[in-house]
Amino acid sequence: MATNETSKGGGAESIRTVGVIGAGQMGNGIAHVIALAGYNVRLNDLSKERVDGALAIIERNLGRQVGRGIITEENANSTLGRIGFAESFEDFGDSDLVIEAATEDEQIKRAIFVDLCPHLKPEALVATNTSSISITRLASVTDRPEQFIGMHFMNPVPLMQLVELIRGIATEDGAFACCRQFVESLGKIIAVAEDFPAFIVNRILLPMINEAVYTLYEGVGTVESIDKAMRLGANHPMGPLELADFIGLDVCLSVMQVLYDGLADSKYRPCPLLVKYVEAGWIGRKSDRGFYDYRGEAPVPTR
Ligand SMILES: NC(=O)c1ccc[n+]([C@@H]2O[C@H](COP(=O)([O-])OP(=O)(O)OC[C@H]3O[C@@H](n4cnc5c(N)ncnc54)[C@H](O)[C@@H]3O)[C@@H](O)[C@H]2O)c1
Repeated sequence: MATNETSKGGGAESIRTVGVIGAGQMGNGIAHVIALAGYNVRLNDLSKERVDGALAIIERNLGRQVGRGIITEENANSTLGRIGFAESFEDFGDSDLVIEAATEDEQIKRAIFVDLCPHLKPEALVATNTSSISITRLASVTDRPEQFIGMHFMNPVPLMQLVELIRGIATEDGAFACCRQFVESLGKIIAVAEDFPAFIVNRILLPMINEAVYTLYEGVGTVESIDKAMRLGANHPMGPLELADFIGLDVCLSVMQVLYDGLADSKYRPCPLLVKYVEAGWIGRKSDRGFYDYRGEAPVPTR
């Protein structure tokens, strides 16, 4: 994969160093799989503590892969050695590709791209891991919409095979082909989606989760019965409310709002109970409480 040349619109061999913005649950997984594939990674967040926290998670997850015989101890150590801390966007000057995986908020993402672009070399590609926001709109605030793409990894990144690739209206074929090769070099499988709100996976998945929250809100079932019904009745590996906690209720709400605003159809109206949980700060596993309380030995339903 990695060679010395860097050329606009080249194959994935033009990518050696990748910047990742946001070291949350997606950013740490993205940094993990990219470094494991042999690329150098620069990881940025609002503070060094957050990046240190992400590195500790990556180390633990690499350790699990060693334990399962998927990678060797040596692989794990060299992977960690390839991930460095980017204190500011200035540290992305040598990046061939930067992937933004910060909070799902359009204003935050726009501000990031405006600050980021002046520090990049002209040929660098820029990708966003947004779950739902328009790629074309985000690209429009950059100085390089033709080198901008949606690269939507699934959670947890080291385990999930799929990556959705979404081109904005201006994305050039060369940039798209380079990103496609890059994602394939990570051992992932691509589904190409058009740039409409929430793309494919979340356009289908999030309304189902939102409907599960309405089912709870209207008293049709309890947290436990709804999750059990969908696990055993639809053969889903996780119930929709467990899955919502896993994704993050803040992310779920943002995606529903993007669908509701972008498609102007009342069927996407976010459930008021989902709004209430987010307002309470009960946003799922990452805050230790959502539809389940994770503070004890085993998760306990909160309703
Ligand atoms: N959670 C999921 O299941 C999932 C799946 C696919 C895609 N996504 C998308 O990935 C992105 C990140 O989601 P997440 O679940 O990792 O969220 P998260 O809350 O775990 O992490 C977001 C991180 O971004 C950081 N951040 C915020 N503003 C920043 C800035 N200006 N500069 C640098 N870092 C900043 C935060 O400090 C935080 O560490 C979102 O766009 C989300 O929609 C999430």
